[in-house]
Amino acid sequence: MTDKMNPLPFNTSMNPGIGRYHSVYNESIENPEKFYDSAAWILDWYSRWDSILDKRDEPYYRWYINGKLNLCYNAVDRHANGGRRNKAAYIWVNENGAEKIVTYRGLYKRVNALARAMLEMGIRKGDRIAIYLPMIIEEPVAMLAAARIGAVFTVIFSGFGKEAIAERVNDCGAKLLITADGGYRRGKVIPLKETVDMALETISTVESVIVVKHTGQNINMVEGRDYWYHEITNDGHEVEPERMDSNDPLFILYTSGTTGKPKGIIHGNGGYGVWVANTLRWAFNPLETDRWWCAADIGWITGHSYIVFAPLILGLTSVLYEGSFDYPSPDQMWKIISYYEVDILYTSPTAIRALMKYGDEHPIAHNLSSLRVLGTVGEPINPAAWQWYYEKIGNSRCPIIDTYWQTETGGFAISPALGIGIGPLKPGSATLPLPGIDPVIIGQDGKEVGEGEKGLLFFRKPWPGLMIGINKGDEKYRSLYFGKIGSYYFTGDYAIKDKDGYFWLLGRADEVLKVSGHRIGTIEVEDAILSSGIVAEAGVFGKPHPVKGESIVSFIVLKQESASDSAVDSIRKFIRDSYGPLFVPDEIHQVNLLPKTRSGKIMRRIIKAVYLGQIPGDVTTLETEASVDEIRDAIDRFRKEIIRTAGS
Ligand code: WTA
Repeated sequence: MTDKMNPLPFNTSMNPGIGRYHSVYNESIENPEKFYDSAAWILDWYSRWDSILDKRDEPYYRWYINGKLNLCYNAVDRHANGGRRNKAAYIWVNENGAEKIVTYRGLYKRVNALARAMLEMGIRKGDRIAIYLPMIIEEPVAMLAAARIGAVFTVIFSGFGKEAIAERVNDCGAKLLITADGGYRRGKVIPLKETVDMALETISTVESVIVVKHTGQNINMVEGRDYWYHEITNDGHEVEPERMDSNDPLFILYTSGTTGKPKGIIHGNGGYGVWVANTLRWAFNPLETDRWWCAADIGWITGHSYIVFAPLILGLTSVLYEGSFDYPSPDQMWKIISYYEVDILYTSPTAIRALMKYGDEHPIAHNLSSLRVLGTVGEPINPAAWQWYYEKIGNSRCPIIDTYWQTETGGFAISPALGIGIGPLKPGSATLPLPGIDPVIIGQDGKEVGEGEKGLLFFRKPWPGLMIGINKGDEKYRSLYFGKIGSYYFTGDYAIKDKDGYFWLLGRADEVLKVSGHRIGTIEVEDAILSSGIVAEAGVFGKPHPVKGESIVSFIVLKQESASDSAVDSIRKFIRDSYGPLFVPDEIHQVNLLPKTRSGKIMRRIIKAVYLGQIPGDVTTLETEASVDEIRDAIDRFRKEIIRTAGS
């Protein structure tokens, strides 16, 4: 056991040391062609690429030009037809205690059966399909079956409501939607099919719906449109994997940005596959016999990359969990780790903080000695949560792999790299860039900032995991990500680099919130509030929250005719039903006026500053033409209004 105040070296036989990290990293930056050539052999290819990187259409980068492969083949077939055929690909568990173990061979059978059914429904390479499922085996199966036949899938988080589904399906033009009767969450049954039926009223592209029977609740099946999954998937049908071009799209994943509508981030096959598999190995160094538990939802990028593609490509065994981590009791997560002898746990700071609040007695009551490595993702981890995770969960002997990355980056970007070599960890720092990632922090003057100074984080070089585009969003791709400094990729995050070269991520520099690690745009929430139909104006911002990281605060002006005591409740209900609970603001304050610019833009910055009791900064652009004093009075009145409404 190592001294807990000096948490290194962790299990020295596993950690090659920081010296090796530096040599691998330097090689990746100085000789990228050679580096990415050997990195690509983590996959099997039908035919080799002509060249590694094509930059002719900058900032669209193309990787492994003319290379042909199939990611379903890589994730499933090569294990199912080889030495891992009887190995568990997934140990599925849910909060009711149900369990299902699916071997690689079993996964192969399931994927082929669904791929055959999709082909029979007329789905072909390049068609789009949507997946709206709970965390059940059929979710990875649907993604892999799509990848097998070359259909481009979009997974929609099962916590989203009908508007959010319709928005995404309409944007990508999915022909097929795969869902379930329902899912389980905190002892409740979530009516997924019912939500899909409502969403379909405003969707014109979907021709068929496949429904998995999971909860067994009564649902409505439409003749000629809706098919039971178990009735159309028959064993014994094999489907030859489609030979995909490295740069063909694999999936579209919608994520929030600075504009109202979510953006459909497109990932390709070759570069994405190479990146997710290598980054999992570099960062966590998983072993053949490990049980890997990425406790995210498949509806987000973390689940796509590290529940589905990377662990399967590497032939690992994953725990797949449906339900809440503190249901039916606060020790649910520790129970699963102990019972299934999980070796690596990868979860979010929000989950850690929430479980920490229940008290140490819960993890202490369970045998967590199987854990060897811990990881976090999605938001900055505060040192107190880091220490608790390190001491109480990892028993002061497991390194914490704090992985910084984004939907757009495909896989980890900045993270301790246990598989290559790590130095001392610092609680709250994602430490050093992974191979190929060339980060730089830029100040207001457009130049690199000094050590310890805050600035915007950019990546100077492309890497294979980078998205290949945005669905119907060429202009956004160019301007939001590559429109600031030459060909540098803009992350949207603030960061600091310390004297040891370690990166500290400080949160988003744009209109994106991280609420419980979920990515939500302030403007998206404002749009949801406005579409309730009873609100004239809305301003939304995030405030620090001890467990969730950030919480959503909103200020609204009701339409005159809509003022009523129940207005706020009906807005909450509307947002929950239409968009999903994630978008419901924690606070909705009614006011009579909102600070706006002369052109009518609501000034969230000022509302937030006044709300937080800070000096609101530059107010000269406010709408009112009166003197600055008058503006201050307006803000004063506004502040009194806040106090009055907050107290009511
Ligand atoms: C934030 C999630 C600090 C960051 C994989 C980023 C983090 C956004 C970390 C992307 C981390 C993610 N430390 N911040 N380890 N990981 N973030 O697209 O603000 O849901 O830009 O991808 O999450 O969120 P997304």
